[in-house]
Amino acid sequence: MGKGYFRFEIITKDRIGITSEILDKIYRLNINIISLEVFPKKVCVKIQDIGEKEKISLKNSLYSIGGVVTIKDIELLEYEKYERKLLAIIDSVDDGIIYINKNLKIEIFNSYCEEIFHYTKEDVLGKDVRNIIKDAPMVKLLKSGDNYDNMEVNIESNRGKSHYLTTGRPVKDDNNNNIGAVASIRDMKKAIEIANVVSTTDNGAFKEIIGNSAAIEKVKGMVRAVAKSNSTVILRGESGTGKELFAKAIYNLSGRRDKKFVPINCAALPENLIESELFGYEKGSFTGAVSTKEGLFKEAHEGTLFLDEVGELPLLLQAKLLRVLQEGTIRKIGSNKEEKVDVRIICATNKNLEDMIQKGEFREDLYYRLNVIPICIPPLRDHLEDIPILVTHFIGKLNKKLNKNILGAELEFINELLKYNWPGNVRELQNVIERAMNLCTRDLLGKDHLMIDIYEPPKVINDIDKEGELTLKEVVDMAEKEAIIKSLKKNKTFRKTAKALGVSHTTIMNKLNKYGIKRKV
Ligand SMILES: Nc1ncnc2c1ncn2[C@@H]1O[C@H](COP(=O)(O)OP(=O)(O)OP(=O)(O)O)[C@@H](O)[C@H]1O
Ligand SMILES: [Mg+2]
Repeated sequence: MGKGYFRFEIITKDRIGITSEILDKIYRLNINIISLEVFPKKVCVKIQDIGEKEKISLKNSLYSIGGVVTIKDIELLEYEKYERKLLAIIDSVDDGIIYINKNLKIEIFNSYCEEIFHYTKEDVLGKDVRNIIKDAPMVKLLKSGDNYDNMEVNIESNRGKSHYLTTGRPVKDDNNNNIGAVASIRDMKKAIEIANVVSTTDNGAFKEIIGNSAAIEKVKGMVRAVAKSNSTVILRGESGTGKELFAKAIYNLSGRRDKKFVPINCAALPENLIESELFGYEKGSFTGAVSTKEGLFKEAHEGTLFLDEVGELPLLLQAKLLRVLQEGTIRKIGSNKEEKVDVRIICATNKNLEDMIQKGEFREDLYYRLNVIPICIPPLRDHLEDIPILVTHFIGKLNKKLNKNILGAELEFINELLKYNWPGNVRELQNVIERAMNLCTRDLLGKDHLMIDIYEPPKVINDIDKEGELTLKEVVDMAEKEAIIKSLKKNKTFRKTAKALGVSHTTIMNKLNKYGIKRKV
């Protein structure tokens, strides 16, 4: 990476004047510094690449400065890393983005703009915007500072026709002077398509998703807006909020509806199985691989792959997934052949990925690849007004399953539900309704049927004190349940919990099912 340049990092002791001594040494060797970053106890330098011998004498000369501790080659300076991330994000957006500086020179021109204006980045970066886009409204914006929204522009150049909607904003310095302008561009054809999607019916895609509160309607709106694109969507939200339902809704509204929807739960499978499930394997690549098997990526070709609980993906597999997303190709285990796949990714997690990045548990580069369109599903306590229709919906659905004929719920019952804060969200509400329906022998659910269990760990010691009311097996089960909940709270992921408790991943998954422990960790 970074051919043509040599970048290195100097770790120093905290001493006044050390940076200027470093600069002095470099200049004395007649080396031009291209960029320099100074941090407490660290200086990073970028220079034109030099020969190996010169590198050694440069390092030796720097080591002679009192207070220089170590010198290490690095791939990129911090600002370069930041810039690359930013450009990757800007490039992944499904709208055009142009930034011009105050001299009207184009500094940012994303991939989408290349399509609309029929120019490549190389053609335009550093060029005067007036030579590329005739009468670009951003030129006026830079002088007047007046915003414009959704202005329709129709231009014809020797490169072809472009018809688009554009929105512009000035970029200001601390003294409120315009130092540049940014414009977003939306292809007119796409704008009309989206308008149509929003105004047409949803073909029942939201049939299963109950709720008409503003919070849920907002999420549905986002889902409609992004479903048609091929961009990666990540569904965020607490456990039980309906992420899986929304993932299916996106698929049902997408152009890939006629192709497969392939879900995989990254938490439910042990590490080695996830890899072979996702990528497949070649016959004989490991004991038991008696025939070649295609992976889920292949199965989802031209369709949609739903990576549920993506926060549980082990680091090694995170690296492999990143490669697929970057290259658009997969390789079976035991094979050296790359195969092209065209898959739309939807993923979901209830984990705080940002925290996991801090702790080194989730790769930052994968995060940026997945976090293209984040959609947050609100917790139930933020849309309590949906509880009455959710209750009606679940009663209808569960009447069939439980072979009952319950007509509805009493007001008192609903009022009780509205007082609770629902840590387990809609899933917990559904369980509470199912429990109530089991107890109910009347037409309507009443307050006496309500059993809200917050899944707190049982207090084993106290319960044992209830002198001998419990069998030994019950006591052991309770202790086991409590130990698992405690460890889950501490270790956060199933995999780590299994490791900490010295059992296999499958054992933990079985125990979680046995004790009905929900993912509230
Ligand atoms: N808005 C809703 N309308 C109807 N049912 C819902 C709604 N939201 C969730 N549910 C139901 O609640 C249960 C949990 O939903 P889902 O599995 O989609 O949650 P999740 O967000 O994926 O949770 P987790 O993070 O634990 O996997 C499912 O049975 C689902 O059908
Ligand atoms: Mg889920």
